[in-house]
Amino acid sequence: MSIKKVMVIGAGQMGAGIAQSCAQSGFEVLLNDMNEEAIEKGLKNIEKLLTRAVEKERISEKDKKDTLNRLSPSTHLQDAQSCDLIIEAVVENMEVKTKVFSDLDAFAPKHAILASNTSSLPITEIAAVTKRPEQVIGMHFMNPVPVMKLVEIIRGLQTSDETYQAIKTMTEELSKTPVEVNDFPGFVSNRILMPMINEAIYTVYEGVASPEDIDTVMKLGMNHPMGPLQLADFIGLDTCLSIMEVLHEGFADSKYRPCPLLRKYVKAGWLGKKSGRGFYQYS
Ligand code: NAI
Repeated sequence: MSIKKVMVIGAGQMGAGIAQSCAQSGFEVLLNDMNEEAIEKGLKNIEKLLTRAVEKERISEKDKKDTLNRLSPSTHLQDAQSCDLIIEAVVENMEVKTKVFSDLDAFAPKHAILASNTSSLPITEIAAVTKRPEQVIGMHFMNPVPVMKLVEIIRGLQTSDETYQAIKTMTEELSKTPVEVNDFPGFVSNRILMPMINEAIYTVYEGVASPEDIDTVMKLGMNHPMGPLQLADFIGLDTCLSIMEVLHEGFADSKYRPCPLLRKYVKAGWLGKKSGRGFYQYS
């Protein structure tokens, strides 16, 4: 099947990035959110990033204009009826995601593929609330989407080969590298990354070192481009907590227990960069 028009649901940091990458690669894109302000903020941010790319001579003024012309806002899930692919990027919460998928199943055309950008939740379970589980798949982009080259493609139990091939081709059209993984808690990326971030948070919690010093150890000592606590702030501490909970429940292993300090920060509304405060402060 050929994908021409894409709807992205959730205009937060991931949804806006996914919408930008799709529009820059020539796809028509609807950016949907239940919150109109989030759409406005997402579109403004895309424009800002494209302007910066023009200034750095990475794209032309015409590329910027064409990309913006391919992006439209949407506040109704019904708009899915004109799309070939819908990529969901709402909060990392199973109840919210399954509600979106069951509604989408009613509005999206029969041929449309429904993809989730979930970081850790089971694709098989999301697919089960639809009448088209063979056309449901995980498409896990990395943050920031326009920069990062990887997309983990997660096959649910019933995902068809045709759906997988269409999404693999689409990922390559976005100039990104697809990696096929099976449906297991945290997939590959977050099964390995999140326990490291959680351990870094325990290291703060137990007073071993300051966040700055922990990040310096990992950057200079392990050659990581960003320390784990700064990365946690960028991902969003609420998202980190949700992923740890999925790993903890999914593997029933205490090695994945979320650090109490992570819970405390999330309860306080310290969600990282997006809320202005996490392990660091942002203006
Ligand atoms: P975010 O909090 O920045 O954005 C979520 C957006 O979804 C908000 O704008 C909210 O208004 C919207 N929303 C919530 N419920 C909705 C609904 N029912 N219909 C329409 N819009 C709705 O979150 P973020 O970081 O963009 O994460 C989104 C998804 O991407 C999550 O599943 C997360 O696990 C995944 N992800 C996050 C990464 C990260 O680094 N933050 C990396 C890869 C995946």
